[in-house]
Amino acid sequence: MAQLKAFNFQRWIEQNKEKLQPPVNNSLIWEDADMMCTLVGGPNHRLDYHVDPVEEFFYQMKGNAYLNIMGDNGPYRVELKEGDIFLLPPMVPHSPQRPEAGSICLVIEPKRAAGQKDAFHWYCPECNALVHKVEVTLKSIVKDLPPLFQAFRESEHLRTCSDCSHLHPGN
Ligand SMILES: [Fe+2]
Repeated sequence: MAQLKAFNFQRWIEQNKEKLQPPVNNSLIWEDADMMCTLVGGPNHRLDYHVDPVEEFFYQMKGNAYLNIMGDNGPYRVELKEGDIFLLPPMVPHSPQRPEAGSICLVIEPKRAAGQKDAFHWYCPECNALVHKVEVTLKSIVKDLPPLFQAFRESEHLRTCSDCSHLHPGN
């Protein structure tokens, strides 16, 4: 093994800041590591909820963001103010909202074990019922997700709440 070496994080962020802007909004620091360390930028709004089979650690390094969490009694908000850290337990539906351009969050999560699946949920804005979900063996956030999101966006059938018939606006 080659001799190991650290590097300056702020300089790395400066060199990769374009990836932290739309449309990608994120950059994986080490491509092949078991510990997935990702920087996530803003602005970014989303209506889907991610259900992760593993824990996620958040460190809101710059600017402010929040997570919408789908709890037992409906959605609530976890604020991620600049400087905050947060550990999200596995299997909690969460929807990160990053309204501020230039905001930076470090997200650390383990690689999924074989057979572990991520899910994405969409909930009815009127009655909170689950409108649609997909399960996926996640290999690449950049490549795997857009087709699933597009299918939901383009289908009125998938977006119609079976409980109250409200049409979900999509993404
Ligand atoms: Fe509904």
